[in-house]
Amino acid sequence: MSDNFDVPRLEDLLEALGGDLAGKHILVRTDFNVPLRDGVISDDLRIRAALPTLEWLQERGAIVVAASHLGRPKGEPNPAYSMDLVRSRLAELAPGVDLLENLRFNPGETTNDPSFVAELAVGFDGYVNDAFGASHRAHASIVGPPQTMPSAAGRLLEKEVDILGAMRSKPKRPFVAVLGGAKVSDKIGVISALSGIVDQLIVGGAMCFTFFKAMGYPVGNSLCEDDQVEVARALLDSDAPILLPSDVTALGPDGSDVRQMGQRLPDGWTGYDIGPGSAAEFGDAVMDARMVFWNGPMGMFEDPRFAGGTRAVAQAMADTRAFTVVGGGDSAAAIAEFGLAAEVDHVSTGGGASLELLENGDLPGLVALRNAPNN
Ligand code: 3PG
Repeated sequence: MSDNFDVPRLEDLLEALGGDLAGKHILVRTDFNVPLRDGVISDDLRIRAALPTLEWLQERGAIVVAASHLGRPKGEPNPAYSMDLVRSRLAELAPGVDLLENLRFNPGETTNDPSFVAELAVGFDGYVNDAFGASHRAHASIVGPPQTMPSAAGRLLEKEVDILGAMRSKPKRPFVAVLGGAKVSDKIGVISALSGIVDQLIVGGAMCFTFFKAMGYPVGNSLCEDDQVEVARALLDSDAPILLPSDVTALGPDGSDVRQMGQRLPDGWTGYDIGPGSAAEFGDAVMDARMVFWNGPMGMFEDPRFAGGTRAVAQAMADTRAFTVVGGGDSAAAIAEFGLAAEVDHVSTGGGASLELLENGDLPGLVALRNAPNN
């Protein structure tokens, strides 16, 4: 798939609707899939990130209705995933914007059922996709409405695509990617795609143990995907510029002994973070780069004993003069928790979406907008 980021923008929608949005009904697909903890929204970034689009439409007199999923309810109403909390927060931030109930309460959302698309579209004159974080899903609310009505990307989607697209198509070198998290299987596509683009691909998090196993090293009780060992071996045998941790921080069999060790873990030991040597090495690579993309923590940072690696990468992201992008999900949560989110150039609102855009250079939501009747 070739890169194609040329989607209709809000100005195109305005033109398609006769240059006047006053009284026009606009459906805005947002990604309000916010983290909830103890019955409160623990981070409202995704709601605030949609405000420029919602305000732009309201300032021009449009009647704005937002729609989003929240969590992964199984196609039926479930009070645990109701939009009530989001609706209250939205009412404070963007008074006058209506919000539909969780789109995934209807089974037609994830299956992209045409009858649900038709139901969603009733009464609307135009559609805006500002749900970057969900634009890798070919779901009804993402790909359906642009088939039938004038449509555009909102400001957030536009910004995310501009920034991540430029990382792919106009990288500043050295370009370093730091990938963490537990599963090679989740990241293999992006590791392969990025290895052809970046100058250095740093692999941390529990993923590194699958690579260690591929190198023939014992991993103790550490997380390891045995069915991905061959995939990891093939990557190590390729020209991919992969840098693995040279040491790890591990927990002993007694559940309390925490030690630094090299790449070989004895029986009973579990690696939960990269070690201090690797943290320094990865930090140096970030400091020396001109462009950095980071997705996925280096360890189990929720536990202070295993937060060192993730903290070091976050600090280097904050300190480097490189152009820095944090690719959503856990790494966005980590950099926020360390109080460093404002120090990076861009924190993406999409985890899976940012990886998929870097991997494929396109997303189903962008394809749908390009095929809209007004484009
Ligand atoms: C996200 O949180 O990454 C997006 O909202 C997409 O959610 P999903 O993975 O449940 O589709």
